[in-house]
Amino acid sequence: MEQYDKEFLDYMRTKYKLTLDEATNGTEPQVIKFAVAWDVWKHAKSIYYDAKKESITDFMSKDHSRLDHIFQTFRKSKNDNERRQLFLEFKAGLERHMGWEENILFPPVKRELGDDSGMIDELIMQHNRMREDLNGIASGQINSSVSFETDMEQLLAAHDKMEEEGIYPWVDDNLENKEKTEILSKIRNSVS
Ligand SMILES: [Fe+2]
Ligand SMILES: [Fe+2]
Repeated sequence: MEQYDKEFLDYMRTKYKLTLDEATNGTEPQVIKFAVAWDVWKHAKSIYYDAKKESITDFMSKDHSRLDHIFQTFRKSKNDNERRQLFLEFKAGLERHMGWEENILFPPVKRELGDDSGMIDELIMQHNRMREDLNGIASGQINSSVSFETDMEQLLAAHDKMEEEGIYPWVDDNLENKEKTEILSKIRNSVS
């Protein structure tokens, strides 16, 4: 037997004048109405709880910290093999993260903000600069004024701050729970 929550039973009693007894022993339309309402209720609740369980800010910020840690370890390492491994791990992770943002997360922000979404264009320009830094570090080139590693370090810090304090909380506060859940599941599905 389903575990109906009290809130739902109260809702059915007030809104449809249907009690649990009628829902199980009543007429066919009463039983169906109750079953359909319960299905919708459970679905709405699961969407709500999923979105509450982990915000987009939490999920994406955690990925920032993870990548930042890999990058810092790479910078400190004196062992060539280890440096190479860490760099490849960082590069793959950052490319994936930027892909999530450009393909899954930013489009709904642009849709909602329209002409006011200049910050997104700025963030994408920074992504492209990070891609140049990644290529620069990978090829071992030396950039005259500031090294690609230093540029990446500075850019990453400013960029992550803009997202963690601006875009991610905006998404959490402004998009519907259903869309946020879809965004997070698309991102999670691409992880495995
Ligand atoms: Fe980004
Ligand atoms: Fe990010």
